[in-house]
Amino acid sequence: MPFTLVTGGCGFIGSNFIRQMRLEEPGRSILNFDLLTYAGNLENLVSLESDEGYQFVKGDIADGELVAKLFEDYEIDSVVHFAAESHVDRSISGPSVFVQTNVTGTQVLLEAARTAWSQGEGRFLMVSTDEVYGSLGETGLFREDTPLDPSSPYSASKAAADLLCIAYHRTFGFPVVLSRCSNNYGPYQFPEKLIPLMIQRASQGEKLPVYGDGLNVRDWIHVDDHNRALRIILEKGELGRVYNVGADNEQANLHIVESILYRLSRPRDLIEYVTDRPGHDRRYAMDSTRLQQELGWRPQVEFAEGLASTVDWYLDNREWWERILSGEYRDYYERQYGGK
Ligand code: NAD
Ligand code: TYD
Repeated sequence: MPFTLVTGGCGFIGSNFIRQMRLEEPGRSILNFDLLTYAGNLENLVSLESDEGYQFVKGDIADGELVAKLFEDYEIDSVVHFAAESHVDRSISGPSVFVQTNVTGTQVLLEAARTAWSQGEGRFLMVSTDEVYGSLGETGLFREDTPLDPSSPYSASKAAADLLCIAYHRTFGFPVVLSRCSNNYGPYQFPEKLIPLMIQRASQGEKLPVYGDGLNVRDWIHVDDHNRALRIILEKGELGRVYNVGADNEQANLHIVESILYRLSRPRDLIEYVTDRPGHDRRYAMDSTRLQQELGWRPQVEFAEGLASTVDWYLDNREWWERILSGEYRDYYERQYGGK
């Protein structure tokens, strides 16, 4: 029985992807390979524990032997590659692991898949990001032919991985497709990223740290819309091609924070302006015409509704993020797998 290998499936987007895929394509089995770094949380997938179409293996994408063995042990006919270090602020305080995981890890994975798929069979989806394009001024949109110009160690490492995938296609004819998506929001996002951080802090009446003047703009998309796009790109995307994913939804950070405060009936004076992030990209905005016209994808979640339901999800699942803040979520693996 063939598997789709999902790397990084215990993180925010990957866990939502796996749940969506199991629900909407139950005939397709999923093998989740994740190192369970601080960002990986097995509790995100408790609902699949007794699902026979889902399996989990703990491991590092940069571990060549283990990854090669994975391709020997399982019949893997497609890969959706999420695993990464993903937080810009962490890449500023410690860039090395970003190069190790995002660049070396991606290359190790590409090599293992290339060896296993020596006849060119299989499909590999590289989950890249709009941050590889760098920053926009007040006008304009990122298109797939916009030159890559990353600003942070995070985005530079993602750009390197993205380019390696394209190079594997050109050099070896490797069957890869790429997505570059804008900022995601939704349930199960680790509470160090803007939206869950602000919801968690506001709900506890704590100060909300807004970087700089708060007018940096991101193009927000609901994680379910991103994942629907990924499934279409995996299935129908042209090999070697890049697809931008965005929901035409530019929002200044301050506006998002104010919306969260409003939804939680908390005062605006919780906002605290703090020192700006070094190299802080000013504006991201995506042109996803290619994906819409060639593959027929459309975003479905309207932002005001998506944000409201996300706020409600964090309020209803307080235990989930409290266990992250206390560090308790990390015991889950030991309990469930006994250190295997
Ligand atoms: P996340 O940080 O929530 O999850 C990352 C997952 O990867 C975790 O489960 C972690 O344990 C795992 N991981 C880390 N290093 C690993 C390694 N060496 N081997 C195996 N697993 C490892 O990230 P996310 O927000 O879900 O993002 C997933 C992917 O999507 C990333 O590649 C990111 O660059 C990309 N992306 C994210 C966004 C966004 O807004 N979050 C937007 C566009 C693209
Ligand atoms: P983040 O969620 O880290 O995503 P990214 O940097 O990948 O876009 O941040 C989103 C925006 O919110 C970004 O402009 C930085 C800003 N931000 C704050 O103002 N305060 C915070 O505490 C955080 C985490 C982010």
